[in-house]
Amino acid sequence: MSTEEREEDTVRYEIENNIAWVYYNRPAKRNAQSPKLNRQMLKVITELEFRDDVGVLVLGGEGPAWCAGMDLKEYFRETEAEGLHGVRKAQREAYAWWERLRWYQKPTIAMVHGWCFGGAYGPLFACDLAFAADEAQFGLSEVNWGILPGGGATKVAVDLMPMRVAMYHAMMGENLSGQDAARYNLVNESMPADQLKARVTAVASKLVEKNWATVKYTKDAVRRVKEMTYDNAEDYLIRLQEGLNWFDKSDGRHVAMKQFLDDKTFKPGLGHYDKNKTEV
Ligand code: COA
Repeated sequence: MSTEEREEDTVRYEIENNIAWVYYNRPAKRNAQSPKLNRQMLKVITELEFRDDVGVLVLGGEGPAWCAGMDLKEYFRETEAEGLHGVRKAQREAYAWWERLRWYQKPTIAMVHGWCFGGAYGPLFACDLAFAADEAQFGLSEVNWGILPGGGATKVAVDLMPMRVAMYHAMMGENLSGQDAARYNLVNESMPADQLKARVTAVASKLVEKNWATVKYTKDAVRRVKEMTYDNAEDYLIRLQEGLNWFDKSDGRHVAMKQFLDDKTFKPGLGHYDKNKTEV
């Protein structure tokens, strides 16, 4: 299959109500991340990023897997056979789209219904939010086949989970259910599989209603301050807000202040202002 597989078929997407549903599309190979898939993913998410009709990106998977990690044949064996340049090229292609996703212009949500292994932790972490089915299985399976969890996977486990849990997870090569993944902060929530898409749709629809510039600056702030001292974060957030004041051409905060203070048509503590009304 792999020799005939067309690069453009490895990813599928559709846009509905400002939500871009992007799917890993190698179900027969459990959506393993091959070089073809990694190149196509970068292409697809790049095309979608600045479209006016895309407010949120959801990353899902076709078939029984969300993503079975890196493709052992096409990503590891075949690139190793090409020598160092082949290995580095494949790594760069994979890391490129995960990095693009970490700093994506629009909010991103991982919708994990099935297998999620090793190299899938890169995109899992790159997504701003993650929701899982109780039946999903999360594993750092690397230790089971003679490698360490590379490509950021170790860092993802340590950043998201308590140290003892991350250590056990990496050393033992045992899988976590969706519920365990939620308990240990790998994902936001876990639920029965038949409720997953509805929950993701509800969250995505709420994000779509918000001021997109504000959401972008907020999510970047959360990722950046994690690495900062308190003082650096405090200062950075002042500068970032001043940047947002310029970046947000809709002048959202003044529009919102008017709706709260003068018009009394909304309360910030109870929901989002009406961004379709532009009066300040
Ligand atoms: N790389 C390459 N091929 C993979 C793959 C991967 N990561 N994961 C699955 N596949 C392929 C299998 O080789 C098989 O190919 P074939 O039909 O040509 O024989 C096909 O996908 C279906 O996989 P199969 O193992 O039969 O499916 P399953 O539903 O019984 O089991 C998994 C699913 C995910 C548990 C199992 O495929 C697996 O352990 N995959 C490897 C997971 C892993 O360790 N990933 C980490 C890499 S860093």
